[in-house]
Amino acid sequence: MPATDLEQIVNLCKRRGFVYPSAEIYGGFRSSYDYGPLGSLMLRNVKDAWVRAMVQERDDVMLIDAAILGPHAVFEASGHLANFSDPLVDCTVCKKRFREDQLDDRDCPQKMKGCTFTEARAFNLMFKTHAGPVEGEGTDVFMRPETAQGMFVNFANVLQTSRRKPPFGIAQVGKSFRNEITPGNFIFRTREFEQMEMEYFVPPAESAKWYEYWCQERMNWYIEYGIPADMLRLRAHASDELSHYSAGTSDIEFKFPWGWGELEGIAQRTDFDLKRHAEYSKQKLDYFDQATNERYVPFVVEPAAGANRTMAAFLLAAYDEDVVNDESRTVLRLHPRLAPYQVAVLPLSKKDTLMPLAKEIYSKLAKRYMCEFDETQAIGRRYRRQDEIGTPFCVTVDFDSLEDGAVTIRERDTTNQERVAISDLENELRVKIGF
Ligand code: GAP
Repeated sequence: MPATDLEQIVNLCKRRGFVYPSAEIYGGFRSSYDYGPLGSLMLRNVKDAWVRAMVQERDDVMLIDAAILGPHAVFEASGHLANFSDPLVDCTVCKKRFREDQLDDRDCPQKMKGCTFTEARAFNLMFKTHAGPVEGEGTDVFMRPETAQGMFVNFANVLQTSRRKPPFGIAQVGKSFRNEITPGNFIFRTREFEQMEMEYFVPPAESAKWYEYWCQERMNWYIEYGIPADMLRLRAHASDELSHYSAGTSDIEFKFPWGWGELEGIAQRTDFDLKRHAEYSKQKLDYFDQATNERYVPFVVEPAAGANRTMAAFLLAAYDEDVVNDESRTVLRLHPRLAPYQVAVLPLSKKDTLMPLAKEIYSKLAKRYMCEFDETQAIGRRYRRQDEIGTPFCVTVDFDSLEDGAVTIRERDTTNQERVAISDLENELRVKIGF
């Protein structure tokens, strides 16, 4: 059974070194998180799984890595300076500030008597800083609120250097920043987060077709990596929910313990961004089709996902508690490509006689897989720890191994154990793990 309470995951993440509250020794930094030894491996695996599906296994999408800081002009053209805001109201009694669109029946969430609200004011979500030693006019720079603009401002560069024709995509994985008014729910909504976005440039007449295609492809990706289909849904935005650039958006939502929440938006951005950047930069951002002698501005279909909340969803869906040999255990049934470690090498004893062989096996396997070497504690407790951090396979080296040249592979999900020759170990694991 997947986790039904967010605290189950929050506790496990802290206890096992996935995610820590940021700046904890100073009392924490509200709604910011640091990824520990296991969390940073898993977050990287989530991003790699996305790049694998969106770039590596296709021949029409290219990866870029654009700057995080951007000048005023980029975000003026993109519309973020004028439009990227939330409507905020202040309660005149408790003096707290709320997002108007998140209030139920205009009741103050503090439930104080006689509360009334001020008129809503637009609060821009962009983080602003300045570049260079002198603060003043013309030195304002912004932390990007989405990775997407990096793809639009590099459209002509990528088109020229890669010699593509629409449909083709430009993808990017990286940090984005939003001064969220109501961050919360662990790593679901934070002010600093990572996005995995792809802008797919298509002939305008094909936009609807590709929008359908990407909605399906992206749903399939979450299912392939272990989220049960009944914990996912595709929800079309109502017209008053649409971003300033969108002619139609559907969200892929996950059933979080507090209700349905967005993992990814798939948007029809039309030619909004390329046209705006062409207008503001006075550069040509279009495509000339030599076959038809036609010049046009491509339309864009954008699947835009968040790496951190996707990691939270994978953790929640993988969480399970069961009973093995009359003992209850917690197990993360993570896909092997997402698990922090694919293999743990466990010498049965710390005795010098076993260590050289165990270390040799570890060194070999570590060239292919992220492995953990653990010689602490009793073997049963070590298995429980590996179950709880999602390691699909343990390799146990015991005293018989010195005689028979074999080790035991123990499977996380079934707890089955199988004896295999050390000479066959890599092949056996490759078959079991799937890569
Ligand atoms: N380029 C389009 C765009 O940025 P978005 O729906 O605002 O669209 C895309 O963001 C994804 O980024 C969201 O589906 C979510 O997964 C993630 N995301 C957005 N804001 C976030 C936040 N404050 N904390 C964590 N993830 C966030």
